[in-house]
Amino acid sequence: MSERLIIFDTTLRDGEQSPGASMTRDEKLRIARQLERMRVDVIEAGFAAASNGDFESVRAVAETIRESTVCSLARASESDIRRAGEAIKPAASGRIHTFIATSPIHMEKKLRMTPDQVVAQAIKSVGWALEYTDDVEFSAEDAVRSDIDFLVRVFTDVIKAGARTINVPDTVGYSVPAQWAERMKQLIERVPGADTVIWSTHCHNDLGMAVANSLAAVMAGARQVECTINGLGERAGNASLEEIVMAVRTRRDVFGLETRIDATQIVPASRLVSTITGYPVQPNKAVVGANAFAHESGIHQDGVLKHRETYEIMRAEDVGWNTNKLVLGKHSGRNAFRARLNDLGIVVESEEQLNVAFAAFKELADKKHEIFDEDLQALMSDESVTPEEELYKLVAMSVRSETGETPHAAVTLIDAGREATVESKGSGPVDAAFRAIEMVAASKAELLLYSVNAITTGTDAQGEVTVRLAKGGRIVNGQGADTDIIVASAKAYINALNKLRGGQKLNPQGESPI
Ligand code: KIV
Ligand code: ZN
Repeated sequence: MSERLIIFDTTLRDGEQSPGASMTRDEKLRIARQLERMRVDVIEAGFAAASNGDFESVRAVAETIRESTVCSLARASESDIRRAGEAIKPAASGRIHTFIATSPIHMEKKLRMTPDQVVAQAIKSVGWALEYTDDVEFSAEDAVRSDIDFLVRVFTDVIKAGARTINVPDTVGYSVPAQWAERMKQLIERVPGADTVIWSTHCHNDLGMAVANSLAAVMAGARQVECTINGLGERAGNASLEEIVMAVRTRRDVFGLETRIDATQIVPASRLVSTITGYPVQPNKAVVGANAFAHESGIHQDGVLKHRETYEIMRAEDVGWNTNKLVLGKHSGRNAFRARLNDLGIVVESEEQLNVAFAAFKELADKKHEIFDEDLQALMSDESVTPEEELYKLVAMSVRSETGETPHAAVTLIDAGREATVESKGSGPVDAAFRAIEMVAASKAELLLYSVNAITTGTDAQGEVTVRLAKGGRIVNGQGADTDIIVASAKAYINALNKLRGGQKLNPQGESPI
């Protein structure tokens, strides 16, 4: 039997450090359930000490997830580690991931600590973490620019202290594959007790080599890869989970390793993360891009029709494409609707929420006869604001847009229980609708992002809109879906406004102590 490669997903932690990708507790829970369904080994659910919101999110994931290990990041400080330990307490299997920087530039300029102090702090940190769980991971931040002899020293000592996983991060995305493999090989050869722990790699994508570097480390003996859905993450992102998993699987002849991942859940996970964070997936992105399995040239099409393997090394259906089977229609009942949501891992918290969602489903089924899983995902994102948080609600709208005329929108909203109708002109119908909504909300929030995507194919597809708003250091993403993209845009704007007004947590970029 081949050896296992552990897949450690950090979409909810490093992924959330992408500018504007902050997620609410409920959004994190939805992604965590999908990661569990995909059979990810470890879910890094957040950084518990970063804020109360982060603590609550990690704790909620720890309470919910049963089949994956739930992990919290913690700096190498007693207070961070105790906060992480409390957050993961309810987990069926919980891990604390503690880290401290080991490169001269970080130790001197950021930590202002001597190498001896760093080693002592690392050892103490592992000890504090062990009070909560025996599953302790240690990372040497900026290992890529750290002195190899110093890394050997730190890792030797944290292994003696009880760390079970040793993570070697390329924090700044500086390495190249041959160098990264050599570093991993040397560490495994030189660190006493190396064979008693799992070696892990965590690569950033600043030079576009995160996946290549991670796989090079795997060839050199790493047995855990830290990665994110769609390669989301700080700056240029992290190694992308889907590429790592499919490379190891497709090139089993090279790697000789197995993962536990159910690859058919990859595309649904990619879509969910893209919807929630508002980060679209580029069409030519490996595995999960819309064109990843599209053949344009006549020669290629001819080849694929004759024998698929002429131009395809993976099967689209193996990674979850084409699974958007027709699920429900106009005549489907409440129980079928509830059961399908269940299958998709969407938990409806109350009968009242189910009723609201079911009414929205019926309305959609009237406009669009074929309802796919993606439509249901979008519909439930629309309904993700709880009634208590729903300060504004769209009642009706009309837009007028004609060549040579200034577009005009009239929007009827419920504002804290009272109905108001407002009208505005704008440079386009979306602009007019947003201006009209602002006349009621007066949020003065800055619009950071507006994006539209078709959820499924065909001109009757729903348009899914993401609106990212910033105000007073907070950044929120609002989503809206509708067969009419102007209505979808208004819903997304209102959804973002409700999140701004609600008790959503702050953007982690603004408060994270990393
Ligand atoms: O990039 C990095 O070094 C990290 C660590 C906290 C593992 O994200
Ligand atoms: Zn990182």
